[in-house]
Amino acid sequence: MSQRSCLSVVLAAGEGTRMKSAMPKVLHAIAGLPMVAHVVKAAEAAGATGLALVIGHGADEMRKAAQKFAPKAETFVQEKRLGTAHAVLAAREAISKGYDDILVMFGDTPLIDAQALAAARQKLAEGAAVAVIGFRPPNPTGYGRLIEKGGRLVAIREEKDCSEAEKKIGFCNAGMMAVAGKHALRLLDKVGNKNAKGEFYLTDIVEIAGAEGLDVVATEAGFESALGINNRAELAEAEAIWQARRRREAMLSGVTLIAPETVYFSHDTEIGADTIVEPNVWFGPGVRIASGARIHAFSHIEGATIASNCDVGPFARLRPGADLRNKAKVGNFCEVKQATIEEGAKVNHLTYIGDARVGAAANIGAGTITCNYDGYSKFFTDIGEGAFVGSNSSLVAPVSIGRGGENS
Ligand code: UD1
Ligand code: CA
Repeated sequence: MSQRSCLSVVLAAGEGTRMKSAMPKVLHAIAGLPMVAHVVKAAEAAGATGLALVIGHGADEMRKAAQKFAPKAETFVQEKRLGTAHAVLAAREAISKGYDDILVMFGDTPLIDAQALAAARQKLAEGAAVAVIGFRPPNPTGYGRLIEKGGRLVAIREEKDCSEAEKKIGFCNAGMMAVAGKHALRLLDKVGNKNAKGEFYLTDIVEIAGAEGLDVVATEAGFESALGINNRAELAEAEAIWQARRRREAMLSGVTLIAPETVYFSHDTEIGADTIVEPNVWFGPGVRIASGARIHAFSHIEGATIASNCDVGPFARLRPGADLRNKAKVGNFCEVKQATIEEGAKVNHLTYIGDARVGAAANIGAGTITCNYDGYSKFFTDIGEGAFVGSNSSLVAPVSIGRGGENS
């Protein structure tokens, strides 16, 4: 399968009115990363080599965001929202480049996992023309139903077009599907809009392909991975599921979480084995922790690098650029920003260290403040190896304290 080229077409033109937000729905974040970026990551992990983003509402904002999470993506604007098939066709130019597989995905389904996508692609490799990803939600109301006969998928019926008998079917369309590239445009161009909503339904390609005698199948994904987000309550539900997965992954990789349900990871948190994380810890983006660290309760950490066997908190705040070297200690009610705390140095109590270097084995007394800002510019404080800074010191930058220096 790995030799097959694959274009992922991510539909994200919707307004997402139920989010009640000025920001496009799919830019709302799970674990600090926009929903649509999670979708893109899953597509890439499933082997997508090309990426087409179909946007509409908030196009400029979407393009700008896409430069960060998918710099190689081609964006296509769907001017009018005439349905999911119409949306896919907005990316006609990309689809016509001749990819083996086309993966159609929704931007508001952030928990989709690469295995589900890969399983659908595998069906194409085995000769199917269309492989639809199905799932069994606890309440199927509102979803398209998958109608199967003899192991083959014969139709997807939207809720509004279902008979009473069809409404009883529990196997539903997750929204995502893999379509053989050589058939995709022909099938999509045959889709009409004679249905209850008057839209061009992507789902109609199932019957169209069947009528051409092509092989159409359904695969099954776990319920959680197909969760579509429409409002902020569902966004929080997805966040909870994402966090639960990540905590488990961390624990299985050798990290102790004493109260896992109270620890929040970011999409990019890296945390090494034998680190112990106490209750109520928040990791914002850009955190890397080597092994054997202890993160005490109620610490808030983002953009920080923490080397082996460091000790952080309780109630510590590490901000972007905090760089703790081996065995450094940052204790209670301390804030560190854009500063290196070198090997074995201690910043233990009620202290602010910003734009600074604290040399190896230096000791910073309680209540020390680096006064790094004069209202216009930031200045650097340099504290030498083994220095001893007494309690309640205000270090007005630019300033340096020599190796072994002492003040009190
Ligand atoms: C769709 C499926 C349904 C499935 C459900 C799963 C169709 C016809 N129906 O229904 O079978 O069970 O998803 O969640 O595909 N979009 C555009 N442009 C459009 C229309 C939609 O970009 O013109 C995007 C939306 O932003 C959204 C996605 O496509 O990300 C799905 O559209 P939506 O209207 O939510 O489809 P559903 O009615 O939920
Ligand atoms: Ca939807």
